[in-house]
Order: sequence, then structure tokens, then C-alpha cells
Amino acid sequence: MTDLIQTEQDGAILTIRLNRADKKNAITAAMYSAMADVLRGADSNTSIKVAIITGSGDSFTAGNDLKDFAENPPKDPTAPVFAFMDAMASFTKPVIAGVNGVAVGIGTTLLLHCDLAIAVPSAKFALPFVNLALVPEFASSLLLPRFVGVRKAQELLMSGEAFDAESALKFGLVGAVVPADQLATTLKTKAAMLAAKPPAALRETKALLRGDAAHIKAVIAAEAKVFSARLQSAELQEAVAAFFAKRPADFSKFS
Ligand code: COA
Repeated sequence: MTDLIQTEQDGAILTIRLNRADKKNAITAAMYSAMADVLRGADSNTSIKVAIITGSGDSFTAGNDLKDFAENPPKDPTAPVFAFMDAMASFTKPVIAGVNGVAVGIGTTLLLHCDLAIAVPSAKFALPFVNLALVPEFASSLLLPRFVGVRKAQELLMSGEAFDAESALKFGLVGAVVPADQLATTLKTKAAMLAAKPPAALRETKALLRGDAAHIKAVIAAEAKVFSARLQSAELQEAVAAFFAKRPADFSKFS
């Protein structure tokens, strides 16, 4: 397994840590595969009752690795990114997100599949898909309106504008904002609280809150079809070239 994903089990609590701080924990195909395997293993491992997902360094994750995406675009449902989404959407145990910094793209949409989300004050969130000539993913077209309301979801997904931790708390995307030096302890305390609950009751509660899992997976698949097609677009090539050239993208020639 790639060492860019670290796992650590402490009693009944599994921590999954994105470990690519120099690239803001941007997620490559190998990292998605590793996380999908870890989640599937953890779901059937009765010694694990709660999972925590967090980042290393000053970031949660800057989202999909844009180079990896442009060079090896996911083409079908077996692609690592979709395997990861399926593993998250199927996971039956509570997951706590520890948003220790920037949370872009899937860094924000991942929160829609977590049961608790706790951020530090410096965390920054964004759903920049449209700016990259992409479309919403990970069932965010369905779940983001549920969390933040339709009007706010339209604004966030169509503008791609970043927002801070205070706004994320106000929108209901995170449940708490705690000082950075208290994040680890808070995650541990919350995880221990959940690990002490009757596990079957917690699983059933999660399933009821999630609602129609088959529908969520169908939306992930429908979005993925459009997303994969967009990855082949000239608009995306311009967006990715602009990012790595550190210049603004110019979409004026597209109609
Ligand atoms: N894919 C690939 N590399 C990425 C990346 C990504 N999504 N996000 C950051 N990186 C790399 C940068 O290229 C840079 O690499 P370098 O040091 O070799 O030049 C390094 O990580 C640090 O990023 P930098 O942009 O210098 O940090 P910052 O603090 O100024 O900005 C972000 C942080 C997250 C706001 C900014 O990197 C960003 O906007 N990233 C792209 C986010 C994105 O669009 N994700 C995809 C969503 S689908």
C-alpha cells in the first residue's frame, strides 16, 4: 500500500491520515485505492467501531491530484476514485472528519458522507468543479442541498468560491470548529464517545440518516459519467494548464 495513506488503530478507533503534506494532500489514484481497501477492511473488522479521516501538515486535502487526473482520467466505475466513493457510501460505521486545513473538491464533498465533521479555524473549503470545467461529484448534487439548502448549494457549486470554517459551521457542513491544538483531542473524545455506543444501534442510525443508499450510489454513478466525459474536454485542459502555470484560466474561446 502507498505510504501516502497512513492508518493507525487505537483500540476500536481507526485513524486514516492523508500523508502528502507537500502537495496539500492532493489525492492520487493510488491513494484512492488504498483508502478504498482500508475502508472495506475496516467495515468487516469487528475490532474497529469508528473511523477518523484527517490530513497531515496544514491541509485536509486539496482534492483530486490534478496532474494524475489529466494524465490518467478515471474512465469507468472500477477507477480508484469511484471505488473510494463506493467504499465511503457503503461504509456502515461512523466516520469522523478532522478538517485540519484546506478542504477542496472531494475534501469538501467527502464531508457529506461523514457522520461528524470538526474543523480548525484556518480550514478553507471550496467546490471548484465548475472552475476546472468539471461537474459536482460524490453525490454532492444530491447531498449538498440537503446539508446547506438548495439556494446555497447552487451558489457554492456554480461559483466555486472558497469559504472559511465559520461559514462552513454556519452552513451546517461542519458541526464544530475547535482550535488547531485541540483538534486531535476532540477527535479522540468524539470517537471514544461513539465507540462506546451499542454498535448495531449506531449502524442502524447511520443507515436511517443516510436514507436511500441505492439512490445515492445511482447519483454518484450518474455524476461520474458526466465528470469522466468532462475530463476529456478542452475546457479542462485549459483549466489544468492554467493551474500549473499559476495563471488565471481563460475560457473566452469556448462556447
Ligand atoms: N493536484 C496536484 N497538485 C496540487 C494540488 C492538486 N489538487 N493542490 C496543490 N497541489 C500542489 C501544488 O501544485 C504545489 O506543488 P509545487 O510545490 O510542486 O508547486 C503544492 O501542492 C502546494 O500548493 P500551492 O498551490 O503552492 O499551495 P497554496 O497554499 O498556495 O494553495 C490550494 C493551496 C489548495 C488552495 C491550491 O493548491 C489549490 O487551489 N489547489 C488545487 C485545488 C483543486 O482545484 N483541486 C481539485 C478539485 S476537483
